Amino acid sequence: MNVVGVIGGGVMGVGVAQNLAESGFEVILIDLADAVLERARTDIKNNLRFQGLLNQSGRRSDVGETMQRIAFTTSYEGLARADFVIENVVEKWEVKKQVYPLLEQHCPAHCVFAANTSAIPITRIAAVTRRAPQVIGIHFMNPVPMKKTVEVIKGFHTTEATIEITAGLLQRMGKDFVLVNDSPGFVSNRVLMLTINEAINLVQEQVSSAEQVDQIFKSCFGHKMGPLETADLIGLDTILYSIEVLQECFADSKYRPSPLLKKMVDAGLHGRKSGRGFYHYPTH
Ligand code: NAI
Repeated sequence: MNVVGVIGGGVMGVGVAQNLAESGFEVILIDLADAVLERARTDIKNNLRFQGLLNQSGRRSDVGETMQRIAFTTSYEGLARADFVIENVVEKWEVKKQVYPLLEQHCPAHCVFAANTSAIPITRIAAVTRRAPQVIGIHFMNPVPMKKTVEVIKGFHTTEATIEITAGLLQRMGKDFVLVNDSPGFVSNRVLMLTINEAINLVQEQVSSAEQVDQIFKSCFGHKMGPLETADLIGLDTILYSIEVLQECFADSKYRPSPLLKKMVDAGLHGRKSGRGFYHYPTH
């Protein structure tokens, strides 16, 4: 396996593409617009420069060589050479479900499709392809090159062979994984999204400030980051879409998105990537 398609060049696509290229894979990074791809190129270059000394393997990648392994494109044509595809488009079923038929059209028959999704069931994704046994979930953590462990999700039809191929790719990327069965939100986000949503409700009800919520998690529970810092890192839009997926899948009111979360997303406060969420960040 040598050529990996990465679909979506946002927060996660950038991290996945960087990690793959640093691990020696040839990467085809696809997004909808040249402007997004230019930003992705700049972000990866900057990350390679600044994360070099901190990444999990402790090795420093040659920026020029690593960048040369990534093709930035809006065209799906190059996927004819892909052995594996990792899809990282926005967490909306209406968007994701349109991507997989395109992958079917362009990728060779042996290619595995991995969905990097926060909550959408892998079995549902597999159903819009003609290769359900070769569809799997890889829930990467953010920032991808810095996080050692991922959650791998076995869809209803995912075969052992697909799991083995995925394990091989992850090993080359320097990752460990925890394999779980398919369910909306899997393990991580079924718990995390509710926690973040409830933390936002506390801020909305003025029980405490965002800083106080985070301080309690860090100082009392020993977490490295509080839930609202984590929410800003993930992206508040992605948090909202993920909770909406959980609400739709389980039809359970406990997944009702916080009105404050909705308001912040409407106001363009999407967290770190937009420069402002619960906290302020220097803009690009
Ligand atoms: P994002 O909003 O930063 O990026 C999504 C990208 O997908 C955008 O650049 C958009 O232009 C692109 N896109 C939309 N439709 C497309 C299409 N048809 N073809 C190609 N590109 C398309 O979102 P982010 O945070 O990168 O999330 C991507 C996926 O990863 C989501 O499913 C999310 O739930 C999941 N995820 C996010 C994590 C996070 O911490 N942000 C963590 C783990 C998974």
